[in-house]
Amino acid sequence: MRTISIAIDGPAGAGKSTIAKIVAKRMNIHYLDTGAMYRAVALKAIEMGLNCKEPGQIIPILSLTDLSISYCQDQQHVYLDGRDVTDLIRTPQVSAAASDIAVIPEVRMMLVKIQRELAQQYSLVLDGRDIGTFVLPDADKKFFLTATVDERARRRWLELIDKGYKMDISEIKKDIENRDMNDMNRTFAPLRKAEDAILIDTTGKTIEQVADEVCSHLTDILTLHKEW
Ligand code: DC
Repeated sequence: MRTISIAIDGPAGAGKSTIAKIVAKRMNIHYLDTGAMYRAVALKAIEMGLNCKEPGQIIPILSLTDLSISYCQDQQHVYLDGRDVTDLIRTPQVSAAASDIAVIPEVRMMLVKIQRELAQQYSLVLDGRDIGTFVLPDADKKFFLTATVDERARRRWLELIDKGYKMDISEIKKDIENRDMNDMNRTFAPLRKAEDAILIDTTGKTIEQVADEVCSHLTDILTLHKEW
């Protein structure tokens, strides 16, 4: 039986992970947050006191890094060298470092290999930046989610407050703008809409509205999936 892959790409705070989780649940398949993998490598570099902008410092630790994903009650857990780092990778410091580290082709190739292997093993909804353009160019369906920078900053701010981090919204907006720049302008597999991806602007829309919009494009796949 072949697996199905649904790619959801877009910039930080566009609602990818929330939507990907809902869609995966509705389809009864797993969700893969690929950003969490970049975050885990960034966390390791931070803990080792390394500079994430320096490939010469980062590349040597890759072969010494054991990264794995597992699911517990539908929740994705990320293990770094055997330690569950799922919650530790959500800080603003790790967000910025992940964007820096994601520029390094060797980091990307290591993580893309794991992502492709998982997509061969399991039917997945994958959220990321380069899923439709680079990781799985033959994905069954591709979406590109966007929203204005102000709306994305507001969402991240609320998310962080919920997790107990109090931050200035203007700081978050600056961080998102920097990450957009970094993610869109890197040479290798930059953030870009695949030509065959469906563009959805989530500004002013509720989570339910966006999830319904995405699912309305998946009826053919859902039928196929049920037949398998
Ligand atoms: O989706 P996120 O905010 O958790 O991602 C963190 C960083 O990881 C993001 O700024 C860029 C990088 N990333 C990437 O380059 N490619 C992906 N497929 C996913 C994330």
